[in-house]
Amino acid sequence: MSKFCQIFVCATPGEGRCGAKGGDVLLERFREEVEERGIPSAMVLRNACTRRHEEGPVVFVYPDDVWYTHVKLDDVPGIVERHLAPQRVET
Ligand code: FES
Repeated sequence: MSKFCQIFVCATPGEGRCGAKGGDVLLERFREEVEERGIPSAMVLRNACTRRHEEGPVVFVYPDDVWYTHVKLDDVPGIVERHLAPQRVET
């Protein structure tokens, strides 16, 4: 069973902002990854600017409270795996 999780991706447009650094493409890539894995408890959402675009594109994962900075497309599978991998139940 996968846990509830929200992945917020900043894709705010504008010079020097996350959108100009690939945030839009990153947002779609996260959505594809979650859909391909069939994780209904996960949502990928567009985040508002949090004034961290110097480190952009930035991604925030809730409720784990983890920020990722300078995120690249190649980082997407690892981030999804880390936060949304099915949880094993000890028996
Ligand atoms: S545009 Fe992404 S943090 Fe400001």
